[in-house]
Amino acid sequence: MERRGVWTAVLILCSLSSTMVNISATSRTMRGSVPKNSKNEYYKERLRRNLLANGLGSTPPMGWNSWNHFGCQIDEKMIRETSDALVSTGLAKLGYTYVNIDDCWAEIARDEKGNLVPKNSTFPSGIKALADNVHSKGLKLGIYSDAGATIKIMNGIDYLKYDNCNNDGSKPPVRYPVMTRALMKAGRPIFFSLCEWGDMHPALWGFKVGNSWRTTSDITDTWESMVSRADMNEVYAELARPGGWNDPDMLEVGNGGMTKNEYIVHFSIWAISKAPLLLGCDVRNVTKETMDIIANKEVIAVNQDPLGIQAKKVRSEGDLEVWAGPLTGYRVALLLVNRGPWRVSITADWDDIGIPPNSVTEARDLWEHKTLRKLFVGNLTATMNSHACKMYVLKPIA
Ligand SMILES: *[C@@H]1O[C@H](CO)[C@@H](O)[C@H](O)[C@H]1NC(C)=O
Ligand SMILES: *[C@@H]1O[C@H](CO)[C@@H](O)[C@H](O)[C@H]1NC(C)=O
Ligand SMILES: *[C@@H]1O[C@H](CO)[C@@H](O)[C@H](O)[C@H]1NC(C)=O
Repeated sequence: MERRGVWTAVLILCSLSSTMVNISATSRTMRGSVPKNSKNEYYKERLRRNLLANGLGSTPPMGWNSWNHFGCQIDEKMIRETSDALVSTGLAKLGYTYVNIDDCWAEIARDEKGNLVPKNSTFPSGIKALADNVHSKGLKLGIYSDAGATIKIMNGIDYLKYDNCNNDGSKPPVRYPVMTRALMKAGRPIFFSLCEWGDMHPALWGFKVGNSWRTTSDITDTWESMVSRADMNEVYAELARPGGWNDPDMLEVGNGGMTKNEYIVHFSIWAISKAPLLLGCDVRNVTKETMDIIANKEVIAVNQDPLGIQAKKVRSEGDLEVWAGPLTGYRVALLLVNRGPWRVSITADWDDIGIPPNSVTEARDLWEHKTLRKLFVGNLTATMNSHACKMYVLKPIA
């Protein structure tokens, strides 16, 4: 019920601030003196060069974002406590280093220069002070905007989630590069997360513009929402690469709407899909059960493997799915998912997952944390409960 209140508030905020869209100082940089015919080519080339040079996102970003758990109920104290908790729980050491403030941190009205202004009631110390605090713990600060944040607010910022609310009606492939160019002038590399909800297939153009792009509308904390986002995101698997990732939205693990096994499926699919691993729970107050999922080093290692190839659904028969993708060292990440209502066995064939048919293969079970005694040739079969999965790293040894 509370969540519903939050959502309504956000919609109202979105609609109130839509009048500010044109204030964006950065949109003026669109008008250059480049001859009209060569303009597109010129910008394309400029973007390609500059964005590849930001050097960020060689593996999917990891961290935390306020939205899934807190919605608009955020303030600077809670953000500081969360960054403390990322360190004290050990999550930061595992790679969760971005602390990302989502919507509702700014006043609705901008200042006279069109700059976003932090809410005095909830962020009285301002964003720069918060950035300094977060940086002092070895973490990075992310912020959110949906209508042309200006450079001023980027002071100390490491990550920008750029949403699609309040847009001025221009197409995302035109609108988002305006921000890309603005970020290039910020004087520090800023991870640019495009969030246009998958409307214009951002996977097709996003790699020249940003470091990740949402392929879906917002996730909610239910099994149906989670698996449907996994499916939409999987379609674009071939377009992900180091420096530019498909983003099926942030994690719901620990928010209470799914069973433990369902959250394990959620985390496993996100990891093997090279999705950003952005925690969406209250990390100040995380249960052991949640920690066992989000702190699984072996699953995180699949996500962060330097090869950076997103896994695909290589076989799907009704509710039974085989996901697989290559890892460094000629290894293969394998995920068997039972989306159906009954306990079943699923078989992965070497033919489907890119292992030569006669290879003798060792299997490491990433949720049991053990290497299976048995060696496998040609296929691997496992049995699992409803809405559960098995995840392996396979290593051909002969
Ligand atoms: C911020 O709030 C404080 C106390 O509520 C007030 O004294 C101060 O004038 C406010 N500052 C601005 C810039 O509105
Ligand atoms: C921590 O979680 C428990 C239950 O999971 C809840 O009762 C408690 O209010 C939470 N504490 C905070 C500070 O959120
Ligand atoms: C798995 O492969 C073995 C040969 O190594 C074969 O005998 C067996 O039928 C296969 N099982 C399935 C379920 O395909």
